[in-house]
Amino acid sequence: MKERQFRASQLIHGADYNPDQWLDMPEIIDEDFRLFPAAGMNSATIGIFSWNRLEPQEGVYCFEWLDDIMDRMADAGMKVILATPSGSRPVWMDRKYPEILRVSSERMRNLHGIRHNHCKQSPYYRKKVREMNRLLAERYEKHPALYMWHVSNEYQGECHCELCQNAFRDWLRRKYHNDIHALNHEWCTDVWSHGFSSFDEIESPSERGERLIHGMNLDWRRFVTDQTLEFFLIECEPLRELTPDIPVTTNLMGQNMDFNQWKLAPHMDMMSWDSYPEWSMGRQQDMDAAIEAAFCHDRFRSMKMQPFLVMESTPSLINWRPINKLKKPGMHELSAVQAIAHGADSVQYFQWRKCRGEAEKFHGAVIDHYGKADTRVFADVSRVGALLGKLGAVAGSDTVSQAAVLYDWENSWAIEDLQGWRSPRLYEDTVYQHYRALRRLGINVDVIDEETSLDKYRIVAAPMLYMLRNGIAERLKRFAAAGGSLILTYGTGEVNENDLCYLGGFPGEGLMELAGLRAEEMDVLCDEEKNHIRLTQVGKEYDADSYCELIYPRDGCEVLAVYTKDFYAGNAAVTRNRYKEGECFYIATRPEQVFLDALYEQIAQKQGMDMPWGRLPEGIDIAVREKAGVKYYFIMNFSGEEVRLAIPEELKSSRVFPDGGCVEEIRLGKSGYVILRL
Ligand code: GLA
Ligand code: ZN
Repeated sequence: MKERQFRASQLIHGADYNPDQWLDMPEIIDEDFRLFPAAGMNSATIGIFSWNRLEPQEGVYCFEWLDDIMDRMADAGMKVILATPSGSRPVWMDRKYPEILRVSSERMRNLHGIRHNHCKQSPYYRKKVREMNRLLAERYEKHPALYMWHVSNEYQGECHCELCQNAFRDWLRRKYHNDIHALNHEWCTDVWSHGFSSFDEIESPSERGERLIHGMNLDWRRFVTDQTLEFFLIECEPLRELTPDIPVTTNLMGQNMDFNQWKLAPHMDMMSWDSYPEWSMGRQQDMDAAIEAAFCHDRFRSMKMQPFLVMESTPSLINWRPINKLKKPGMHELSAVQAIAHGADSVQYFQWRKCRGEAEKFHGAVIDHYGKADTRVFADVSRVGALLGKLGAVAGSDTVSQAAVLYDWENSWAIEDLQGWRSPRLYEDTVYQHYRALRRLGINVDVIDEETSLDKYRIVAAPMLYMLRNGIAERLKRFAAAGGSLILTYGTGEVNENDLCYLGGFPGEGLMELAGLRAEEMDVLCDEEKNHIRLTQVGKEYDADSYCELIYPRDGCEVLAVYTKDFYAGNAAVTRNRYKEGECFYIATRPEQVFLDALYEQIAQKQGMDMPWGRLPEGIDIAVREKAGVKYYFIMNFSGEEVRLAIPEELKSSRVFPDGGCVEEIRLGKSGYVILRL
């Protein structure tokens, strides 16, 4: 299959727009069209939850209201990102065809309600979705406002009905070539007498039943992934048949682990995600939120190695956390710039106008219940709209990275599922530590998974790479052999892709040779407990927390730091092994951030990476996009304080973008930013 690609030629500023909630108040819709240009909107996403307005009774269709909105959008020169409405269903459908209603892992069928609760296997729903999407595509195929398809909304969750059970069994039959012995072997079912004699005996994991066969849990998640992809492709069929030139996306969530989002990427023309960082909780929290947001942007960019869309974000606040704070002045613009800096070609909102009732009536929106444009939020949004208009040249530009952090979905499932070690496991948190250390160097960083090619990188950080799959061990060896710097940590290479432990020593699959050591035991620390590491060369000490693995380096493997406490004081804690042209670091514990910052700086220097800014102060985010020989440097201040930066030598001839002014020194106020063009 050829990977699908689409690049925007201008930056999108848009919002989820739900005129179907206001059809009985046409004056409100008139006002929307008056205010769109005032807010600098050039796009709207329509119809996401409109099924009941489109098909109020089975087979009775009502598209006229949408025709009218589409026409008005075209007249206003706006681009429509048209949704397929499968994210929620009319009540008549669930009453008549209860097979669509999801069954929980406790085997209870849901009642009608909320949204995102359909069975992806239901033949009726698959048929209905095909029909509905075909009707939409036929009707708007040639419509001048149609810009992109927004398929469904935030695919999520799983169903355990009989249809899904049978589909799971068929999936397993295919994976294990109809051989139940092969399945028993891979799932290690001789433990606790768990062996199966036929595929028909298998049931999906459940809190009320089997939940401890780790190989089965992984296979279930992989099945749910394939089922989600299959459903997405069913939705796409009529769209691609009738509108082959209109790009297709589906908006994904940041850290939802229900299915492996990476598997959808090759089938989408453009990635899109819904970004809701938790701002305003304090100075340190804002800096952390900025790192996490940057990480997610980088991941969605890396999933296709091309620009993506921020399909949703809030112009002010959200309504689903225990504490829902406003974005403080400046943060809306800064977070919008951050998205663009990391490869987004859009800033879009949930939503244009606040709902009058139901769950989301107090979720932030561009237009408040007040209804007018003279609000702080509207002013913030308009400013971003005007800015995106001026930054248009950035659209479609690339992000070139020589460093990557490997964060693998399936590895995360396996780590969360294992019994032992400690809780919380801190996989994501540890990945953030390594990512943060690289970002402090002002360099672009890709966020990749175990299937991504490593060829273009000089540094690959692969923390807690517990499960090895898809030939990653071989590729890591090739990467290091060719001169790359690889960073591994405790807990690496313990299980294969079916969650069977490697025999003969960890890390498995030849990584012992690459790292130059064997990992023998894993000790863990309580939340407040610390061990320390001491650098063997200079004697400097750093705190270490949570994990202390006992490793035994082989001859030739350099010991960079040792533990200082407990019976393993003096044992190796951080090592470096030369491997052909490159090197492999192994960090057997979780050292404090300053240690990682210093280590990555040294590695990057040795790799000759271009780091014009040196090590950045905390809270400063720098990202670079480039197109046709022009580079755009985005320098952003999340530190909550004024920051000054000297202009590096190689950027002296750059100009402030878009204004074109010269710059001697960078002075960033609180939530300030500057874009330089070189
Ligand atoms: C999700 C959904 C939206 C809306 C927002 C609220 O991202 O896709 O429909 O509910 O959350 O934050
Ligand atoms: Zn089902």
